[in-house]
Amino acid sequence: MKENNKKIALSGIQPTGTPHIGNYFGAMKQFVEMQDEFNLHVFVAEYHAMTTVQDKKTLKENIHNLILDYLAIGLDPEKVTLYRQSDIPELTELTWMFNCLVTVPWLERAHAFKDKSERGIEATVGLFNYPVLMAADILLPNSQIVPVGKDQIQHVEMAREIARKFNNTYGNTFSEPEEHVVESTQTVPGTDGQKMSKSYGNTIPLFGTDAEIKKAIMGIVTDSKLPEEPKNPDECNVFALHRLITPEPELSEIKKGYEDGGLGYGDSKKMLLKNYLAFITPMRAKRKYYEDNPGIVRQILDEGRTKIQAIGREKMKEVREKVGL
Ligand code: ADP
Ligand code: TRP
Repeated sequence: MKENNKKIALSGIQPTGTPHIGNYFGAMKQFVEMQDEFNLHVFVAEYHAMTTVQDKKTLKENIHNLILDYLAIGLDPEKVTLYRQSDIPELTELTWMFNCLVTVPWLERAHAFKDKSERGIEATVGLFNYPVLMAADILLPNSQIVPVGKDQIQHVEMAREIARKFNNTYGNTFSEPEEHVVESTQTVPGTDGQKMSKSYGNTIPLFGTDAEIKKAIMGIVTDSKLPEEPKNPDECNVFALHRLITPEPELSEIKKGYEDGGLGYGDSKKMLLKNYLAFITPMRAKRKYYEDNPGIVRQILDEGRTKIQAIGREKMKEVREKVGL
């Protein structure tokens, strides 16, 4: 199914809630930047989300919203194969085959599982198995590059090991994928200075309303230095977000205001808010366009499904034959 000689890049996001700017700068933005250079596959990781979302209405809404978000941030359906994970049931078949190659102690090393069990929470088999499903996502379409945030690197390494194990057992079948992490925005801080994450309640929602965004930005935690005091921009959570959002030359002016003193945190936050709203406005318009045109969205997903199903079926035919089915 090679349409050109571009490398295949693939990534997905779980529809588990409202995307925040950490998801955007840590993962989603990279997708948009990669769509010209790669044969890019981007999907909605629905089976993964089922490890946490077990309410029909919520899951449906999250899926719908994530698809709109993908389109709003600028993924171009002409360039990208956009699809829903649940449109390729072959992934669960391949997950089973991989399950028979990996061991329990090996899977126990995975962060998602380890974090939960260290916090005394009993993980479901689904959560335990999640890196194997992720390996199937990556390996089925022969992905070479996987753009992800830093916290997902381990899972891509695991996919690589699974590919190697399968190839050693049954003969060369899968390419070994490489992760692709953007160095400058590895971890986006949340409003409390910890990693921005849904689970910490410290997020700035990417497509929040003006009021929600204002509340989050004005609530960013800072130290208590007075406006006239010199400040270290590298130690300020507000400035860390300016680096992502505020264009030059304003960014350098703000930096100077911190270093020389004279710029207070309150004013810095107001500038961040203004720049964030300017940044998000065109994306909001795009999101609204797709929201108002569900037929177009359906057509995009139909095309994605047709394309990825053909790839998946062809690969599974080869895999089934190789394992002796
Ligand atoms: P959350 O931690 O909010 O639950 P997810 O685990 O769903 O976020 O992450 C989805 C994607 O966004 C992943 O690729 C992840 O690496 C990236 N990501 C999430 N939070 C951040 C952050 N604070 N900084 C950079 N990337 C992030
Ligand atoms: N586990 C990823 C996350 O939580 C989502 C994901 C599922 C994924 N399958 C993938 C990412 C395959 C990249 C490739 O962010």
